[in-house]
Amino acid sequence: MTAKIISGTEVAKEIRAELQERVTKLKAEGVTPGLVMIRVGDDPASVSYVTGKEQACEEVGIWSETYVMPESASEDELLAKVAEMNKAEHVDGILVQLPVPKHIDADKVLNLIDPAKDVDGFHPINVGKMLIGDPYFMPCTPHGAVELMVRSGNSPEGKHVVICGRSNIVGKPLMAMLVQKKPHANATITVVHTGTKNMSEITRQADILVAAMGSAEVIKADMVKDGAVVIDVGVNRVGMKPSKKDPTKMVADLRGDVDFEAVKEKASAITPVPGGVGPMTITMLMMNTVVAAERRAARSKK
Ligand code: GUN
Repeated sequence: MTAKIISGTEVAKEIRAELQERVTKLKAEGVTPGLVMIRVGDDPASVSYVTGKEQACEEVGIWSETYVMPESASEDELLAKVAEMNKAEHVDGILVQLPVPKHIDADKVLNLIDPAKDVDGFHPINVGKMLIGDPYFMPCTPHGAVELMVRSGNSPEGKHVVICGRSNIVGKPLMAMLVQKKPHANATITVVHTGTKNMSEITRQADILVAAMGSAEVIKADMVKDGAVVIDVGVNRVGMKPSKKDPTKMVADLRGDVDFEAVKEKASAITPVPGGVGPMTITMLMMNTVVAAERRAARSKK
């Protein structure tokens, strides 16, 4: 079997068109959705992610501003910027790009973001609300992965979903989302991780296999059941390569957590890297920002 390629780029385009309409409606009511991003230091991956998010804001009609702080910025300076943005009326969403430099306590920063502006869905209050089935903002990458499953006709309902990886950004929240007794969830979940002894025995039982370990091409064909749906959340930079658009320019060589060429011969559907979950993550950030602005518009009518 050769797998159907699930295009995150296409699904993201569809959702962004829906968001554009919601933004047009908000603007007619006098509310422009606003997202503030804070980047500390010049990590190349972070620079690229933040640029992608700025471009998506522009496309959807969201106002955005990025504060770039030097690598040497103190924790207090970053906390002060977050506190200032918490108070700013026109700011619907605040995002601190991770990772932050080692001398800054990331949890302390994330905990200071007003949960009502936490469009990343990382604040413990929002994590807890999601876990009890009353989500306020859902984290963008796992939410994007679920939307991609559903909109490509691969709903997780009633399926055995095996999640590889237990990070706070992907594995754990995805587990919390899919276990809910709700439409587009209600799945049986297994999480495998570095402490799992018989990993491939378990991954071979997956109807839907989600790879989110952060290691390049570690999911091999013999770990996948015939006809499984494979969602690759990994973004690993393995080096540089000439750009397809302009071969005189070098760009990052991105690989997923899945050995794509081999696994696509076994799966029924698979997401590519790039062009799979990545564009969905950014789109879910746009969605959360629009939702936050819609809540602001509703408050102003009261
Ligand atoms: N770094 C890697 N992924 C993310 C994300 O989803 N949000 C933020 N803020 N930083 C990240």
